Amino acid sequence: MSLDLDIEELTPELWPALEKLFGANGACAGCWCMYWRLELGERYRDVKGPTAKRMMKALVERGEAQGLLAFDNGEPVGWVTLGPRRSFPRLDRAPSLQCDDADDVWSVPCFFIHKDYRGQGVATALLQAALKVLRKRGAKVVEGYPVKPPDGAVRIPNASAYTGTLPFFLKHGFTHVAVRPQGKQRVRRTLARRR
Ligand SMILES: CC(C)(COP(=O)(O)OP(=O)(O)OC[C@H]1O[C@@H](n2cnc3c(N)ncnc32)[C@H](O)[C@@H]1OP(=O)(O)O)[C@@H](O)C(=O)NCCC(=O)NCCS
Repeated sequence: MSLDLDIEELTPELWPALEKLFGANGACAGCWCMYWRLELGERYRDVKGPTAKRMMKALVERGEAQGLLAFDNGEPVGWVTLGPRRSFPRLDRAPSLQCDDADDVWSVPCFFIHKDYRGQGVATALLQAALKVLRKRGAKVVEGYPVKPPDGAVRIPNASAYTGTLPFFLKHGFTHVAVRPQGKQRVRRTLARRR
């Protein structure tokens, strides 16, 4: 099957497409892309499910949740979220993901591709589009938080790869800045302005 992808920036009008893509499970485990957005004191286990959906919908309506949707022949098939690092406050509460220049950094912390469309380059197309969008917005430093597959492994479960994988980000020009033996890593790419 060859995909005819159209990638669009999320707007309030596109909420129904995001809702359809995320489905009854809210992408995964009732997350609704709220995990990294939770403020101090908001616990994921209390929020996941309908509350997370309401929170995400409100952010989308106010234009405060940013991301890109991939469509194949009009069907929403993939999502990547992006935004200023400060819009994902939970990143700073993960000791291994902290940094000392967070105000100057943009983040690409989560992907969700419809299960029938995985393994066909949708996440790749979304990451490339995210970099273009961020460059246009004047972002200078972009971070990802990909998972390092255990030594010797190439694949990890798709659900565990929601932040992407380390080889995937390195292949797209990111540098490994916070090296850990396993789990989520911090990677960065500097974006130069195109003339
Ligand atoms: C992980 C995920 C984003 C990958 O999307 P995808 O569209 O299949 O990825 P692509 O086809 O663009 O592949 C990009 C690269 O990553 C690699 N890759 C993809 N899934 C992988 C996995 N599970 N383990 C290791 N590598 C993986 C591919 O081999 C490819 O490598 P290559 O460029 O060297 O060929 C997708 O499986 C997914 O959405 N999983 C569920 C995540 C989730 O639950 N998100 C919501 C959280 S609430």
